[in-house]
Amino acid sequence: MFSKKVRQAMNDQIHHEIESAYIYLSMAAYFEAETYPGFSQWMKIQFEEEMAHAFRFYDFIHSRGERVTLQAIGEPQAEFESILAVFEGALAHEQKITGDIHRLYGLAMEEKDYPSLSFLQWFIDEQVEEEEHVGEVVENIKRAGDNSHALLMLDRELGQRQPPVDVEGE
Ligand code: FEO
Repeated sequence: MFSKKVRQAMNDQIHHEIESAYIYLSMAAYFEAETYPGFSQWMKIQFEEEMAHAFRFYDFIHSRGERVTLQAIGEPQAEFESILAVFEGALAHEQKITGDIHRLYGLAMEEKDYPSLSFLQWFIDEQVEEEEHVGEVVENIKRAGDNSHALLMLDRELGQRQPPVDVEGE
């Protein structure tokens, strides 16, 4: 049975994921304005990933015979102190999302909602990867410091990021 508490928490998680997408799109726009097209591209792909996460929850809720109700999204931060501040903000945000997913998993365990536990396992693994990837970018930016050449190289490297291949349903 689809636990009502789990369904409500998943509905809230759709909000968190779309809010994440919005935050990353705002970060992309900041980098666009600062003429870092690679960092901007990386954030735009991050935006796409978050929307894909939201759709996983959306599809799951509907596949279990319930419906989603959407919530208001707040205005994201638009200005940042530095490149490092943006990516540190992204890392802190991912750590918060990891906490959300873990609480959701814990709730599904309490409720003995086994299909939800199975579904959420993908997100548990995904958050490990997300934190790892953003954490690597943070470390690389710290290493580059004020070296404009190193930052340009990093911008080019991150601009190579490709959109996610979603294998859901295969
Ligand atoms: Fe949907 Fe980046 O967590």
